[in-house]
Amino acid sequence: MPKKFFIETFGCQMNHHDSEKVAGTLTQMGYVATEDASEADLLLLNTCNIREKANQKVFSRLGALQKTYGTKPGAKVGLLGCMAQMEGPKIFERAPNVDLVVGSSSYSFIPQLIQKLEQGASHVIDVSQDSDRLFETYAQSRESPYKAFVTIMEGCNRFCAFCVVPYTRGPERSRPGDHVLAEIQRLASEGYPEVMLLGQTVNSWRDPASGIPSFAELLKRVAAVPGIRRVRFTSPHPSDFHPEVVEVMETTPKVCNQVHLPVQSGSSEVLKRMKRDYTREEYLRRIEFIQSSPSDIALSTDVIVGFPGESQEQFEETLSLLDQVRYDQIFSFKYSARPGTEAFEFGDTIPEEEKSRRLAVLQEFQRKIQIQRNAALVGKEFEIFVESKSQKGLNELMGRTTQNKIVNFAGSPELLGKFAQVRITHSFPNSLAGELI
Ligand code: 5AD
Ligand code: SF4
Repeated sequence: MPKKFFIETFGCQMNHHDSEKVAGTLTQMGYVATEDASEADLLLLNTCNIREKANQKVFSRLGALQKTYGTKPGAKVGLLGCMAQMEGPKIFERAPNVDLVVGSSSYSFIPQLIQKLEQGASHVIDVSQDSDRLFETYAQSRESPYKAFVTIMEGCNRFCAFCVVPYTRGPERSRPGDHVLAEIQRLASEGYPEVMLLGQTVNSWRDPASGIPSFAELLKRVAAVPGIRRVRFTSPHPSDFHPEVVEVMETTPKVCNQVHLPVQSGSSEVLKRMKRDYTREEYLRRIEFIQSSPSDIALSTDVIVGFPGESQEQFEETLSLLDQVRYDQIFSFKYSARPGTEAFEFGDTIPEEEKSRRLAVLQEFQRKIQIQRNAALVGKEFEIFVESKSQKGLNELMGRTTQNKIVNFAGSPELLGKFAQVRITHSFPNSLAGELI
């Protein structure tokens, strides 16, 4: 009987993609994936550390291991990802039922680490960040048969005052351009029409082999790979966002009309304390050249409310920025003080109830914008890439426009993985409904 593994992933797309790599490696080792944790011989949690809540969730899951997962006797438990990286060997003290800890730079060592476990070692750990095998070619077990994630850079050097990423993911390292293109050629030959380039500050990518002169040029080369029909990327950093990328969207339709540009706050004063290296005005200049493009580029962002010392006026500056930009979508968070970061030293000055109030106000404000924006799309026609059955089930499919708008529509499952033309019939705050034409 082959051994079985179960993996649960918390957090961002990078983490989800890391889980695909780990699952691929384990499959190559002869393990079989299972969705039923209670029959797994190896139980892995790929963890997130970005906010305190994510951390608590993992520890509460581990605390009630038998109850949550119905763990098989003798099963081994491993923690992967950012929390593993940040907490290291301390995890074994806090959660004695954990057997394995692997940080986010060490996945290429999984075979040796698992072997140690199988030989009876306890408390196996690797949280080193100096691996030169970071971008090696992993066997990958991908979640979607149509859309593939491709890591192009890892880590971050920016040290925004609130953020643990530079500590958990380590310093910024770019993957060689020819390596990226080789993976994309392989994906295209396996039939993936869409790729999503991933990196913490994806547009800070520089070819370490100096073959491809810029991130914008990389986008063009990726789009030129035969078989690739859509290219997306996330998340760019505003300071490295240049008009060249918008020009690529205009001249290369395969590069999707969508930019996720995290702003974090609409107040220059708060941005300064966050150590974001741009002002509100500088950020808005980037928005201006994106919005003035004839390509109709969708915009989304990340916002934090309740950063230490954020006044009511400064919070309102964030609202006025949302009003000015009119994003298609936002991801908003209450500030969470993270030990080890610079802002942790500022104290967590905004009471929890006030943070919740600001978050609710912000989300309601944005909801109205999205309702209006999406309503304006009713009656219009779009090409969508059909990527899954819709959550509503039977004969309902879900596809996305180049702008990343979700469109649910009635259609036969044969359309999965294909492009279709739809007319929008109804709009909602977060999605659209359409009909095939
Ligand atoms: N508290 C709240 N939100 C945070 N983010 C990062 N660190 C924190 C924190 N300490 C948010 C930022 C980032 C997104 C991925 O998570 O908005 O862009
Ligand atoms: Fe975190 Fe700032 Fe780096 Fe983004 S740019 S990962 S927010 S430190």
